[in-house]
Amino acid sequence: MKRLPIGLIRFVQYAVAVLLAVALFAAVTLLADARPAYALPEYAERTGEACATCHVSPGGGGPRTLRGLLWAARGRPDSVPPLPGVLMAPGVGDGSELYDIACAACHGSKGDGLFAIGLTGMRISKPAIRSFVVQGIPLSGMPAFKGQFTNAQLDALATFVAGLADGSIPPLPDSYPLPPAQFKCSPVSATVKCGVK
Ligand code: HEC
Ligand code: HEC
Repeated sequence: MKRLPIGLIRFVQYAVAVLLAVALFAAVTLLADARPAYALPEYAERTGEACATCHVSPGGGGPRTLRGLLWAARGRPDSVPPLPGVLMAPGVGDGSELYDIACAACHGSKGDGLFAIGLTGMRISKPAIRSFVVQGIPLSGMPAFKGQFTNAQLDALATFVAGLADGSIPPLPDSYPLPPAQFKCSPVSATVKCGVK
């Protein structure tokens, strides 16, 4: 029997090995990637959450919030896990301060609107405000703050926003002038000597 040239046998062996490797690689990637992939803003559509749930910037993209990080760490499920017991502003009781911390970035520091609509002059009740804050408004960009405020904080916030809305709380000032300094200091040798004016 005529023997095949050794070079040809080597070539066939080599080709079969390469084909097997490619097939194995394709099978592994296909199996590992069985979950459908989504383009990034589609995360919002799939989870029913606003961009701001996962991104620090209300418009989406860039650094992620704690919940966004947690969601990615859990393997990007269809719903964003809550952060139970993580208060946004522990110890803060003042409604206007809470507003400044949680709402001003979108509704404007004076409630006059920024990324989101202005709240001043709006006809809206306290319970409705509270419910919007807790539940959010899916896909509008208004995040849900469930679990991030205490009951008392929610009350203070709703009272403040309702006051802004119906005008019983006057529009906030542009700035708060500081009282003049109480102490007058003059450097004396190496130490600083201070006294009341
Ligand atoms: C459920 C959480 C979630 C929501 C909602 C979400 N994103 Fe993202 N987004 C992510 C994560 C996590 C990344 C990082 C890439 C990754 O892990 O796939 C990302 C990445 C991005 C990126 C790429 C740039 C970067 O920072 O990495 C853009 C742009 C982006 N998102 C825009 C948006 C926009 C716009 C919205 C709202 C329409 C939105 N996202 C809503 C979680 C989310
Ligand atoms: C990430 C941005 C964002 C933050 C933060 C945010 N909101 Fe909103 N909010 C929105 C958007 C967007 C809407 C939908 C209306 C619109 O398109 O402007 C909305 C709607 C509302 C409405 C309903 C208005 C109506 O009747 O349609 C209320 C009330 C409200 N927000 C109060 C608050 C309060 C109080 C806070 C702070 C605890 C807050 N929001 C924080 C973006 C935000």
